[in-house]
Amino acid sequence: MQRVQKICQHPVWKEKMAELAQLEKDRVFCKHGIEHLLDVARLAYIENLEEHCGIDKECIYAAALLHDVGKGLQYTQKIPHEKGGIEFASVILKDCGFDAQESKEILEAIAGHRDVSNKECKNLPGMLYRADKHSRMCGFCKVCNLCNWSEEKKNYNIFL
Ligand SMILES: [Fe+2]
Ligand SMILES: [Fe+2]
Repeated sequence: MQRVQKICQHPVWKEKMAELAQLEKDRVFCKHGIEHLLDVARLAYIENLEEHCGIDKECIYAAALLHDVGKGLQYTQKIPHEKGGIEFASVILKDCGFDAQESKEILEAIAGHRDVSNKECKNLPGMLYRADKHSRMCGFCKVCNLCNWSEEKKNYNIFL
């Protein structure tokens, strides 16, 4: 998991995470800090094990750690974050030693993590899509009724 450790030490990742923390400091809805990113990584990896998907652990963790890296651009420039984060993620993956094929797959998963057509897919984009939604505990959220997520996206199930 050495390459994954490198992601968290990368200056671009650290800078984007710090910016995001600042932008979300008064946010009442779900945030996108390290807790969320690791929840997503672990849920996706559990699915990978339970369903015997055989996807590389580092690729799962890399996709999870980078999937919201463009969120700041969404807040400040209204650029959808699944698109806005691709350039940052691409640089970080290369610097951390992911090869061209691995990067392609991880970037596809990041780009598709809000695309409902991936919801049932048994691949990295599908895993990331599901883990992202399942990481949220809507059933315990005090502002659930104010959230703009559709009922279909909201997660009330803790046994996932
Ligand atoms: Fe996201
Ligand atoms: Fe997310």
